[in-house]
Amino acid sequence: MKRIVSVAPMMDCTDRHDRYFLRLMSKNVMLYTEMVATKSAIHGDKKKILGFSPEEKPLALQVGGSDKKELSEVAKIAEDLGYDEVNINLGCPSKKVQKNMFGACLMKEPDLVSECINEMINSCKIPVTAKTRIGFDNIEDFDYLNSFINKMNEAGCKTFILHARKAMLTGLSPKQNLNIPKLNYEMVYKIKKENPNLEIIINGGISKILDIKKHLKSCDGVMIGRAIYQNPYLLIDIEREIFKVENHPSREEVAKKLLQYLEKEVKLGTKVNHVMRHTVGLYHGQIGSKNWKRYLSDNMMARDSDFLKAKHIMTIVQNNEKANQINQ
Ligand SMILES: Cc1cc2nc3c(=O)[nH]c(=O)nc-3n(C[C@H](O)[C@H](O)[C@H](O)COP(=O)(O)O)c2cc1C
Repeated sequence: MKRIVSVAPMMDCTDRHDRYFLRLMSKNVMLYTEMVATKSAIHGDKKKILGFSPEEKPLALQVGGSDKKELSEVAKIAEDLGYDEVNINLGCPSKKVQKNMFGACLMKEPDLVSECINEMINSCKIPVTAKTRIGFDNIEDFDYLNSFINKMNEAGCKTFILHARKAMLTGLSPKQNLNIPKLNYEMVYKIKKENPNLEIIINGGISKILDIKKHLKSCDGVMIGRAIYQNPYLLIDIEREIFKVENHPSREEVAKKLLQYLEKEVKLGTKVNHVMRHTVGLYHGQIGSKNWKRYLSDNMMARDSDFLKAKHIMTIVQNNEKANQINQ
């Protein structure tokens, strides 16, 4: 499994439509679902909550929970459905998540976490990985993090995604928790140095190719969230610069393929806005970005947006392509 670059799990963002869209630009990045609570995965509508298109693979299911029986059941479900990895969320600091005893508050419970991981590993053959922070509240301590990781390693987990900032379990909103605690990449590098046999993926605030290359000198992989959601075509630079792939689809080709997907999905009952809302950033930093966003918001973002209007999208795309070519 290649985890050199992954797109971070993001609630309300990395759903199956977004992942399909991202795959049109990159075959090589690893993709993650939004976090799914164990109870929803077990008792909810599996097709709706866990369904995906084969094109999205390689794909990891991210799960939130702390009940080892439920977690092991979800790991088995993930394997049966064809996911390539199951990842436990040990990094989300939201109040709701804490109330249900999952996410970052589990950093306080290394024994419970290692039992959960052990059960998950025993119930499936796909890799079980963990995504966590480098600390929580007033704890940002190498020895604490290292021992937490080693406990999980003893339970059989070999791959760790480390969001290089601590989580504040009280006093900060989830959004503030993604920006206010300071990034500490050195802590992640040191974890890799001390544990060369573990796969260490670094995450947090990474948005430039040069930074990806720099982190790859000290870690096994890089995970990127917001920068790709805001500017999905960055994936093309990643394919070219990191994976050394030469042929890339233009934005026009991406839009064309997405429209084919949209047409199929609409026939199955998917709403136009559920697919198109993820494409707002397609022209990020390009001429025509405003026209693209305006077209989407005027025609594609309502709950009852009509697929027929999507056909006009190619006119916007072609105008944008021309304008950007002239500008080159
Ligand atoms: C809108 C949003 C939703 C998120 N949802 C999740 C989630 O479901 N699971 C998770 O582990 N992290 C989640 N995160 C955190 C990201 O996975 C990532 O760790 C964080 O954004 C830092 O990476 P970045 O600076 O590259 O965005 C979310 C972040 C954002 C912005």
